[in-house]
Amino acid sequence: MEEQHLMKQAVRALMSGIPKALNDPHRPAWHLAPSVGLLNDPNGFIQHNGVYHLFYQWNPLGCEHRNKCWGHWQSTDLINWQHQPIALVPGACYDSHGCYSGSAVVADEKIMLVYTGNVKYPDGSRTAYQCLAQENTQGGYDKLGPVLPLPAGYTGHVRDPKVWHHQNAWYMVLGARDLQDRGKVLLLRSDDLRNWQFLGEIAGSELNGIGDFGYMWECPDLFTLDGVEVLICCPQGLEAQAERYLNVYQAGYLIGKLDYQQAAFKHDAFHELDAGFEFYAPQTTQAEDGRRLLVGWMGVPEQDEDYHPTRQYGWIHIMTCPRELSRHNGKLYQQPARELQQLRGESRQWQGVADNAPCWPIDSAELLLTPGGKFNANFGDAMTLDWDGGLLRLTRNNLRSGQPEHRYWRGNLAHLQILFDRSSVEIFINHGEAVMSARYFPGPQPLLQLRGEARLALEHWSLTPCMLE
Ligand code: FRU
Repeated sequence: MEEQHLMKQAVRALMSGIPKALNDPHRPAWHLAPSVGLLNDPNGFIQHNGVYHLFYQWNPLGCEHRNKCWGHWQSTDLINWQHQPIALVPGACYDSHGCYSGSAVVADEKIMLVYTGNVKYPDGSRTAYQCLAQENTQGGYDKLGPVLPLPAGYTGHVRDPKVWHHQNAWYMVLGARDLQDRGKVLLLRSDDLRNWQFLGEIAGSELNGIGDFGYMWECPDLFTLDGVEVLICCPQGLEAQAERYLNVYQAGYLIGKLDYQQAAFKHDAFHELDAGFEFYAPQTTQAEDGRRLLVGWMGVPEQDEDYHPTRQYGWIHIMTCPRELSRHNGKLYQQPARELQQLRGESRQWQGVADNAPCWPIDSAELLLTPGGKFNANFGDAMTLDWDGGLLRLTRNNLRSGQPEHRYWRGNLAHLQILFDRSSVEIFINHGEAVMSARYFPGPQPLLQLRGEARLALEHWSLTPCMLE
C-alpha cells in the first residue's frame, strides 16, 4: 500500500476504533498497548537527554501481521507515556511490505533509526534491506534509504538490526536464515552507519557447539553486562521438550565473550528468558544512569493469536513491563524497573496458613509472596499457579482448544513478586532468577484465592493506572 494511503487509513482506523478499544475490560491499566490494531516487537528503545523513546511494530489497520509501521511513545519516567508522530510507514520500494524491527542510536545528537525494509515479490519470495531514518525537528523521522542489501549466502530472511557503539565504531547484529535453513546471528561494523562491513557469524544453529538450533534466529541484541557479553536471540524451530521450549517460538540468551577482531563469540548454553506463555522479541537499552533495561512483547508469533478476545474490540497484544537486568551465578536476572513502585497504592500485609488467606483483588495489583511450603494460587478462575516443593506450574485453558496447558519452572522457591494488569500476569521468581509472563482473560473484578496447609507471608498493593496521552 502506498505510504500516504496507509496514513489516511490509519487516521480513519484510529478515529473509529479508539472508543471501542477503550471499552474493552481486558485493556491494561498500566501496560503499553496499541490504541487500535496489532502491536508486536518493541523497537528502537533508547534514552536520550533524559527522555525514553519506545517504538513498536504496529499495524494500525487491523489485528493481522501486515502494514507494519513504527509507532512511537516517549516518557520521562517509564510509567507515563506520550504518543508521538508515527515514526515509519512502509511504502518505499525498499520497505514496501513492512518497516520491520530495528533499533535506535544517537549520532551527532540526533536519534537515528536502523530498521529492516521488508520486500515481498508476487512469486512468494522476499528480500530485505537494512535502512536508516533520521529524527527531524517535528518529532518525526525522515527515511534515508537502505544502507545494506541482503548479504550473500542467506535467504531473504535477514532482519532486525540492533546497533551499538564500541571503541569508535558502530556494530550491528542481524538475525538471519542461511541457505541451508540454519538460524544465525551476523556481526557487521561501520564507521558512519552508512557503509557496513560484514565481519562474520557470531552465533547460530551448528555454531559454537550448540548443535541443530532452529532454522531462523530473530531479533538479536548484544550488550555487555558486568564485563561479559550477553546475546539475546529468538530462535525459531526448536523442538518442544517436557518442561521447556513450549511456546511456538523461543526467546533466550547466550552469555560469553565477544572477540570483536575475530568476530568470534564463545558462549555458554542457551537459556530461555521467560518461562511463561507469552514473551518474545525483547529489546534492551542502557539507561543514562547505567541500568540495562529490557522490554519484551507479551505475545508470540502464530501462537493462537486469532483467538485473543481483545480482537473483538479491534486491538491485540501488549508490551511487558520495563525490567532491569543483572547477572548472578552466570544467569541473567530480571526485575520490574524500580520506577514501577510509584504505581503502588496502600500496602496491605497478611501472614498465616494459605487455606485461611483472604481473597485479594488482582484487577491491577502487585503481590509479594513468601511461601513456607506447598500452595496453590487461583487467579480469577482463569489461571492457576501451583508450587509442589520442587516444581512451579502455571496453568490456563488454551484459547483455541479449551484444554489445560502448562508452563514450568523448577528450583528452590523462596519468593514471588507478581504483577497483575487486567489481562496479564508477570511472575518474578526469587527476585528475578526467572520470570513467567502470560496473558489471561478473567471475568470482571478477579480475585486471588490461595489454598494449602503451608504458611505464607503476603504483601499486596493495588496499582494505579498510568497515563498514555
Ligand atoms: C518478530 C518479527 C521480526 C520482524 C517483525 C515483523 O516478532 O517477526 O523478526 O522484524 O516481527 O513485525
